[in-house]
Amino acid sequence: MMFLCVSPNPAVDKRVLLDELKPGQIHRVRSARAHAGGKAAHVAMTLRTLGELPLWIGFVGGETGADLVSGLNQLGIRTQACPTQKKTRVNLEFIEDSGRVSEILEPGCPPTELEVIEFQKVCESAFAQGQKELTVIFSGSLPRGLGVGFYASLIKSANSFGCRTLLDTSGEPLHEALAACPQFVKPNRQEAEALLGQGIIDVSQGALAVQRLVSLGARSAAISLGQQGLLWCAGRGQPVYHGPAIVLQARSTVGCGDAVVAAFAYATTRGCTEEQTVKLATACAAANCLADSPGAARPADIENFRKQAQVNLLDESV
Ligand SMILES: Nc1ncnc2c1ncn2[C@@H]1O[C@H](COP(=O)(O)OP(=O)(O)OP(=O)(O)O)[C@@H](O)[C@H]1O
Ligand SMILES: [Mg+2]
Repeated sequence: MMFLCVSPNPAVDKRVLLDELKPGQIHRVRSARAHAGGKAAHVAMTLRTLGELPLWIGFVGGETGADLVSGLNQLGIRTQACPTQKKTRVNLEFIEDSGRVSEILEPGCPPTELEVIEFQKVCESAFAQGQKELTVIFSGSLPRGLGVGFYASLIKSANSFGCRTLLDTSGEPLHEALAACPQFVKPNRQEAEALLGQGIIDVSQGALAVQRLVSLGARSAAISLGQQGLLWCAGRGQPVYHGPAIVLQARSTVGCGDAVVAAFAYATTRGCTEEQTVKLATACAAANCLADSPGAARPADIENFRKQAQVNLLDESV
């Protein structure tokens, strides 16, 4: 079994600790640490922690790109870099003493047309090589210059080779990709609300929303609701499960959704039961809340939270 994490818009994550963020002022911060980042990198890191040897494919440019690749390699994650002339972006995360977290995300530079074609080729050759043994996870926004159908066409291609396909994105790229029938999608609350044009204020509205995602083409779908936990429908006609979030004091919740996606990729590929799957996802997400950087959940935390995690079967079914 192989896992491939596809990153069209990677980043270096910089976590900055400071006493208080005050707009319009100069800040001398306590620490600023850079880590390999972007959503696909967080997924790959969590899969690595679960004992897998994922391959990461992404656009890589300049010194920041080189740092990103070496950071992943140091964690034992294999990388296939698709070079870009423009350098890889840096995403800033500020954690204040009060616990408040703010993020500043660069849009990412547009790759050239040739660079995009090369990226698609590299992905498709990995799909062709991996076939049914390959689980492909597509994560994150698209940099400018990539068409909204970018994920949809890669998912079609991966599906045609028999690969398993999971997607975590938002907006038009998600909308287009649903019709390509990914095996799994996981928007968060806001992303699902925007896509479906409906509010999701509680678990029962979420249960209906998750079923709508399945009726729009996803073979199975989850919606993460932050502190309200996670909803999952394993397929058309299947019931909806709710995994309440573990109660804890989060350092930061950045990357929690990515930890959920990694857990689903792992559990569904490894043949876990539905209950085990939801519990693992809840545990990986909770462990990510305590990590030193996004994606760096510790194995002992995952194990402890897996034992604490609960799953509820909800009534409604498609
Ligand atoms: N404060 C919290 N305490 C405990 N668990 C949390 C908390 N926030 C999130 N989680 C867990 O993480 C999961 C995913 O969180 P969330 O809905 O915030 O994802 P997301 O917005 O996609 O995150 P990201 O895109 O940054 O990875 C939730 O379903 C829940 O299990
Ligand atoms: Mg997310």
